[in-house]
Amino acid sequence: MPDVIIHRKTFTPFIPADKIQEQVTIAAKQISRDYAGKRPLILGILNGSFMFAADVFRQLDIEAEISFIKLASYKGTSSSGNIVTSIGLEENLHGRHIIIVEDIIDTGKTLHAFLPEVLQRQPASVKIAAFLTKPAALQFDVHADYFCFEIDNKFVVGYGLDYDGLGRNLPELYILKD
Ligand code: IMP
Ligand code: MG
Repeated sequence: MPDVIIHRKTFTPFIPADKIQEQVTIAAKQISRDYAGKRPLILGILNGSFMFAADVFRQLDIEAEISFIKLASYKGTSSSGNIVTSIGLEENLHGRHIIIVEDIIDTGKTLHAFLPEVLQRQPASVKIAAFLTKPAALQFDVHADYFCFEIDNKFVVGYGLDYDGLGRNLPELYILKD
């Protein structure tokens, strides 16, 4: 696979599409096993998770629902820092088994800020499925219950992840060349 150039930065092939699909299948099997009979609601966080969420969802062999939301963050008025609110969350989460699907947990800030909003709606359970995690970048107490790859603290694109809007359509993962 050749390098790709996005906004004048060079990215080099990192994880091929077949390796990605192998791990997605494993995650989908785990989720199917853990949620049989529970009719989980998969909550995909747009935009980054759309590809991972679709691929995992397609491979679930249990009853499951899916919905997508966007998160918007803004500065809180108190010293609480950033507040994250969801856009498009219309489902009733009360008593439901929720699986939040993210493209990547980087610092963990986004999910750390969003989780209280989910918990406030009194779901039966909440777990997180992330396509990628970057343990060395983590700054908040958030962990993925399901993930496909743990990667170094480097910038990646492809499989839904973007660099300034581009690169999401690449079926494999690319990493920024230094
Ligand atoms: P966090 O709040 O720091 O965990 O950041 C999560 C969000 O940052 C992800 O949903 C991505 O949109 C974005 N992000 C973090 N690292 C990368 C990366 O390496 N490539 C593309 N997007 C990233
Ligand atoms: Mg992004």
